[in-house]
Amino acid sequence: MTDDNIQRLKRLAAEKAVELVGDGMVLGLGTGSTAALAVDAIGVRVAAGLKVVGIPTSEATAAQSQRLGIPLTDFGTHDVVDLTIDGADAVDLDDLTLIKGLGGALLREKIVAGASKRMAVIIDETKLQGTIGSRTPVPVETVRFGWQATERHLRALGAKPRLRLGKDTLPFVTDGGNFILDCDFGPITEAAKLQAALKNLVGVVETGLFIGLATDVIIARADGIEVVRKG
Ligand code: A5P
Repeated sequence: MTDDNIQRLKRLAAEKAVELVGDGMVLGLGTGSTAALAVDAIGVRVAAGLKVVGIPTSEATAAQSQRLGIPLTDFGTHDVVDLTIDGADAVDLDDLTLIKGLGGALLREKIVAGASKRMAVIIDETKLQGTIGSRTPVPVETVRFGWQATERHLRALGAKPRLRLGKDTLPFVTDGGNFILDCDFGPITEAAKLQAALKNLVGVVETGLFIGLATDVIIARADGIEVVRKG
């Protein structure tokens, strides 16, 4: 599929998700190229009079929202998010497990998703990869201090970790000031068990495995939109 076609599909999924947005909602505003299209569409509706507030999942999304005039809020003011719209890097449609974080925002994304009544995930069909982990590594956010020690612990759990680098070839640093180790585990059949083991490692802040958080997946396919809701 060409880049133009993928971009068109991402926009269709984003627009479909934004149909779920209603007046008065507290929104979780996702991060990444697909979520940015949803934020754009929310901005258009806000300019037309929609009243919502948003909690952004990254500094980039906060800046985009501010440019568009979407009022922002935080967890000091709201403890529940009505609806989060976010992208994903890989989705298993059997149980709506996700891998997120190739954009580096997994920690804030997971905090926002965890506080959300509803999480609509917007993807194009290239993100459907069968068993989670088959084609996409799990991003693991780690504190900078002693990251090599954390890397060794990850290897011992069966991962092939790789320190993520930025465009400047220096280590990529998250909004929280941490590093990311992209961990290839191969196909992951017991995601909850792996998540628990990863979180048990000293030095690990959070992982890009999103289990039991997505409620809706909106898939833009070449032949139309498919919506899968948690059963
Ligand atoms: C950001 O940290 C990620 O979790 C994104 O949601 C994910 O990488 C999807 O991004 P794209 O929509 O750009 O593919």
